[in-house]
Amino acid sequence: MLAGKRILLIIGGGIAAYKSLDLIRRLKERGVSVTPVLTRSAEEFVTPLSASALSGEKCYRHLFDLTDEAEMGHIQLSRAADLIVVAPATADLLAKMAGGHADDLASTLLMATDKRVLVAPAMNVRMWLHPANQRNVAALRADGILIAGPNEGDMACGEYGPGRMAEPLEIVDAISAALGDGPLKGRHVIVTSGPTHEPIDPVRYIANRSSGAQGAALAAALRDLGASVTFVTGPATVPPPQGVTVVGVETAAEMMAAVRAALPADAAVFAAAVADWRVANASMSKMKKDGSGKAPALEFAENPDILASVAQMKQGRPALVVGFAAETNDVIAHATAKRSRKGSDWIVANDVRPSTGIMGGTENAVTIIDSGGAEEWPRLPKDEVAQRIAARIAAALGPVG
Ligand code: C5P
Repeated sequence: MLAGKRILLIIGGGIAAYKSLDLIRRLKERGVSVTPVLTRSAEEFVTPLSASALSGEKCYRHLFDLTDEAEMGHIQLSRAADLIVVAPATADLLAKMAGGHADDLASTLLMATDKRVLVAPAMNVRMWLHPANQRNVAALRADGILIAGPNEGDMACGEYGPGRMAEPLEIVDAISAALGDGPLKGRHVIVTSGPTHEPIDPVRYIANRSSGAQGAALAAALRDLGASVTFVTGPATVPPPQGVTVVGVETAAEMMAAVRAALPADAAVFAAAVADWRVANASMSKMKKDGSGKAPALEFAENPDILASVAQMKQGRPALVVGFAAETNDVIAHATAKRSRKGSDWIVANDVRPSTGIMGGTENAVTIIDSGGAEEWPRLPKDEVAQRIAARIAAALGPVG
């Protein structure tokens, strides 16, 4: 979906600037043309020569470079792109953007553009958390500026915390989302993902081993085809993708409420591993051993079946409802029965016996069950399974109209 798009990449002056050279490479691999712009301080970290060699384009640097103005004025430069990306976006660049400054080429381009702008902040953790920076970020968000990251982790300055620039592939994801104009453009898709946690008391809960990897990959793939995605996720280990509306929940009941609140939708994909039961007699305070040696008895109540309730809606049912079936034996028979019992259009069935390494792993082998029968797919990376399911959803929904 990215091939043929044009990005104006403003590289700010921070140690993360070296990663922006990799970002150029990643974008070029995907057929994107990248015009680099370096701020004065960026040149302390990377050279215009490396930026232009990697991008295969002229690297722009100074506002009053008359040759540049003759070739392409800054107004034109700011508008010729499909998207402007600022990576790394330093605290100073963000402050300039929030304040509307235009005193160098980068800030002038950002003021003059009529295109969407995506920033990938990178700075020391104290600078990121500083109230002035947080104020600027909030103002930029309110202005509709898209923000990728920052991530939390070790910093070049030796500290730890939020402030690391998003990785190049995460920025590519955010760019795909910002440019999303594929066959699902104009479609709203709800995706549930991850496990649910059902409290026993305020500090203990019942959970399962779902990592949320397949759900996150699906949300990203649907987004890449242009869908607007509401991603309702339990406490997963895999982070949610950029460019989707994330609704974080803990319990099945909360997940149900979040899905209901996100309707209407054109399609709903239920990839979450929802707990079938919750603890009916969950304690409001931490349960204690009373010295008697007697273990507490937990009583269970059945959770609402989110998939079945949406699939069986009389009014406002999404046109396409997709469920998942994680099974350890007789996969196709169980999944086929599940499809009719729940009323979903498709069931994506997979074998989650520990020996398959699928649950928590990076690959998946699925069979799609629909009204036409069972379609077995080869074992593939979860990203690729997600892309195929997203393409199948786009084909089933057809053109918006
Ligand atoms: O019944 P089982 O849990 O095997 O069904 C799996 C499918 O149903 C998955 O798509 C899952 O997301 C969905 N489900 C649900 N709400 C539940 C239980 C399962 O949406 N309470």
